[in-house]
Amino acid sequence: MEIIIQPDPAAASRLAARVIARLVRARPDAVLGLATGSTPLLLYRELIRLHQAGELDFRHVRTFNLDEYIGLAPDHPQSYHSFMWVNLFSHINIDPQNIRIPDGLASDIPAFCERYEDQIRAVGGIDLQVLGIGTDGHVGFNEPTSSLTSRTRIKTLTEQTRRDNARFFGSEANVPHHVITMGVGTVMDARECLLLAFGPAKAAAIAAAVEGPLSAMNPASMLQMHRVVKVFLDEPAATSLQRAAYYRWVYENKPEWQRL
Ligand code: PGA
Repeated sequence: MEIIIQPDPAAASRLAARVIARLVRARPDAVLGLATGSTPLLLYRELIRLHQAGELDFRHVRTFNLDEYIGLAPDHPQSYHSFMWVNLFSHINIDPQNIRIPDGLASDIPAFCERYEDQIRAVGGIDLQVLGIGTDGHVGFNEPTSSLTSRTRIKTLTEQTRRDNARFFGSEANVPHHVITMGVGTVMDARECLLLAFGPAKAAAIAAAVEGPLSAMNPASMLQMHRVVKVFLDEPAATSLQRAAYYRWVYENKPEWQRL
């Protein structure tokens, strides 16, 4: 894992956007795995800025989103379909045909999930997966005790996650209990992962994911087994890391060819 600690979320998001931009310029039909929530908002804003400046072309990019709430129609304001259109897709030149987001209204959920995995395989797999982390260590919506080899499937949200997400729904009672999410195994198949975490509420989950034991109690810790992971943190999210000084030294002393 490469741990990159930046002064604030904007600086960290600019660096993460640079990694994505570099990939898309090298491979215009790159397959991006995308995330929702507060964390990737500045990253998406930066990708939009690069696009509007004529520096990034999404015409051939393919995308797969990590997850969606079961029971929410695509046009529900809190659906992840809406989130993606409002915060990214409607501002870039992506072809709507190239966008995949789990269908929260799928009538046969297991069949839908199997098809989603087939679709990812059919495009040759995900080149780069963007990830946030829950305060309970979830990635996608793979809550603690998720199988670390799981595939896309239905999950039940923990009370902690429903509380965390209540801010988007007005009240906790309105937060759906069930979701469709890519599995931890699905995420692990991506060729590269970018994990972003900002703010003090993420410090404990990040410390467990990066430095804790590999455990289904913190599904993000499975990323320790991934070959190419960059973890972008702001200072508050990095406060519980024991080896923060080492990560900073590594980043500041990268060989020129490795710099972001
Ligand atoms: P957040 O959610 O970005 O809204 O903090 C992260 C997550 O639940 O994965």
